[in-house]
Amino acid sequence: MALAAILAALAVAQLAVAPAAFAEAPRFSREPAVEQRIDALIQAMTLEEKLGQLTQQWGSEAQDVNPVVTQTKRDDLLGLIRAGKVGSLLGAHGAEYTNMLQKAAFEESRHKIPIILGNDVIHGYRTIFPIPLGGAATWDPQLIEQESRVAAIEAAACGTHWTFAPMVDICRDPRWGRVAEGAGEDPVLGAAMAVARVRGFQGRDLKAADSVVACAKHYVAYGAPEGGRDYNTVDISMQTLHDVHLPPFQAAVRAGVGTLMSSFNEINGVPGSGSRYTLTTVLRERWGFDGFVVSDWSSVTEMIAHGYAADQADAGLKSLTAGVDMEMSSFSYRDQLPALVQAGKLDEKVVDEALRRVLRVKFAAGLFDDPYTDPAIAEKVVLCAEHRKLAREVARSSLVLLRNEGGVLPISPEIKSIAVIGPLADSKRDPLGTWAAVGKADEVVTVLEGIRARAGDGVTVRHVAACDVRGSDATGIPEAITVAYDSDMIVLVLGESEDMSGEGHSRSVIELPGQQADLARVMQATGKPVVAVLLAGRPLAIPWVAENIPGVLFAWHPGVECGNAIADVLFGDFNPCGKLPITFPRATGQIPTYMAHKNTGRPPLEKERYTSKYIDVSWTPQFPFGYGLSYTSFAYRNLSVSPRELKADGTLTVTVEVANTGARAGAEVVQCYVRDLVGSVTRPVRQLVAFEKVQIAPGETKTVTLSISAQSLGFHNWDMKYVVEPGEFKFWVGDQEGTFEISE
Ligand code: NOJ
Repeated sequence: MALAAILAALAVAQLAVAPAAFAEAPRFSREPAVEQRIDALIQAMTLEEKLGQLTQQWGSEAQDVNPVVTQTKRDDLLGLIRAGKVGSLLGAHGAEYTNMLQKAAFEESRHKIPIILGNDVIHGYRTIFPIPLGGAATWDPQLIEQESRVAAIEAAACGTHWTFAPMVDICRDPRWGRVAEGAGEDPVLGAAMAVARVRGFQGRDLKAADSVVACAKHYVAYGAPEGGRDYNTVDISMQTLHDVHLPPFQAAVRAGVGTLMSSFNEINGVPGSGSRYTLTTVLRERWGFDGFVVSDWSSVTEMIAHGYAADQADAGLKSLTAGVDMEMSSFSYRDQLPALVQAGKLDEKVVDEALRRVLRVKFAAGLFDDPYTDPAIAEKVVLCAEHRKLAREVARSSLVLLRNEGGVLPISPEIKSIAVIGPLADSKRDPLGTWAAVGKADEVVTVLEGIRARAGDGVTVRHVAACDVRGSDATGIPEAITVAYDSDMIVLVLGESEDMSGEGHSRSVIELPGQQADLARVMQATGKPVVAVLLAGRPLAIPWVAENIPGVLFAWHPGVECGNAIADVLFGDFNPCGKLPITFPRATGQIPTYMAHKNTGRPPLEKERYTSKYIDVSWTPQFPFGYGLSYTSFAYRNLSVSPRELKADGTLTVTVEVANTGARAGAEVVQCYVRDLVGSVTRPVRQLVAFEKVQIAPGETKTVTLSISAQSLGFHNWDMKYVVEPGEFKFWVGDQEGTFEISE
């Protein structure tokens, strides 16, 4: 594409940062002309070339700085591409480098099939937004769609065609390090975020120069490993699989997601990358998914360690026939499958079908029209002021005010000196969080910098790190005490470093690490007003902080605009509106604790010993799903539902008035929960069914209307049929409650 055309497309796309109004989900077209070209290619290709298209390998080695090594690696890689042995690369960045690789495929290989270049663009490319768990705390799908649009614009400008995002795994065990990458514990919120991210990445037109193909991962149930340990066994009921873990994937498919990634974990004995049931029966036959599936990194050959495949050939055979179309980083397809076809153990038609799906996505993404990237675009869009502005907006919208005793926040103009204490206060790397793509630490505004910039010259701001994030060094605590006594208030910045969550970074205890809990106690003992700002990649079990530090602001890992976003909230320039997308336990041992739990036959009662609780900690969470304070107050009134009785194909309209009864404008997330009182299988005590975020001026009352289809209130019964059963339901919005009935 010529530069002028690309820039024109970009201008349109930048306008489209506003949420796209998709009437219908975009699907991968079966245009006859495209299908004919695919048929012709399949006809002309050798088996080896076909399997090359189904192979994705690491693509950054040839980008290294050592010229001798680099040249050899480059020649090797280019040779493989020219020979048609590579269909996709991951880890290659930059227009010039990726264009060079692309040329080998698109101009110098026999069939001139472009490679599709994938990367992990999880919460921004260079402009880093909050980790996705923080993004989910905004409860604002439109904002997250805009974020993903920006991520796509930057990534595409640097040669990426395909992002391995969104991660839509539901997680109810925050020990799992990858909880940071998803939308939390709930399938309804998770589905909304999944759709928002798919739309943002893929844009209105997948062929546009600034769109990237999305990839819903990790299919499926990767977020439910035993003990929260990454990659661990998943053993869940089929009901939980279908009612909790599959819905966000289905929502992504409905939104037109181009690809899915099969997971590392086994599900009830069958690895995600070898499960014909999930990959073909559910995904393709029931949902009609028409993109392609890529494996996770070596998850095909890891089926040998799982004890599900005998060797590489067996692993490749099982994955391909189950429905994994492209193999990431291992080479069982390319190396092993030709012999199996020749031996008659694998029908070449299965290879052709996978190839067809991969080619269809390449066509749909416009790669056959123009697979190159213009280097001039990146300079204009990457980390531009507009993108930083949006990063600040998403970050401040993701902050959750957990406690505000005595109105310690926002910081009063009377405060003339602030002690900013803690090991994360001036950290540049940690606010980026896990999977920060090509984000750079030196571009981050730290909490200290943000506070300094906002406080201005009239306020003395002093900083002491006091202790390590994780280690035993606490030698700075005496100095912190001195500075604290000498200040009007303390802002404590505590939590987890960026390497304490993410892939392979599960924790067995989710408390404040290192000496930080002691630091918090010492600071509180000074008697000065204290506010804790917590940066973390997961919920933390912080009972002492939650009950003793008057102000607690949970900031996740908020990204490049960290300090500015936090200062906006601390000083009251922005009214906090984030709500928890996941339950915060009081103790690690309470896990799993989540909103949509079952009641048991002996629901917990304070004074009854033989009920379902602990002897050493309350059964209630520290902060429930959906929780978050504001600087204003909201009152809910006049909840109504219509009709009160409906059939299984009907739709409920729930209406409630929400008044801003405080003195500041604010946003409230109106959340509707239901309980199906009696079911043929037991139902959760409270299940989120709808939500809407509304801005309300002080003194204003807004009427919020939520539409809930009876079909969305169903579940999988014992026979694994999706049913909407007649019966009585309770429902709640804010502190209001009502009932309705589904009739025969
Ligand atoms: C392994 C991770 O599980 C997956 O999420 C990621 O996309 C791939 N590696 C590629 O980096």
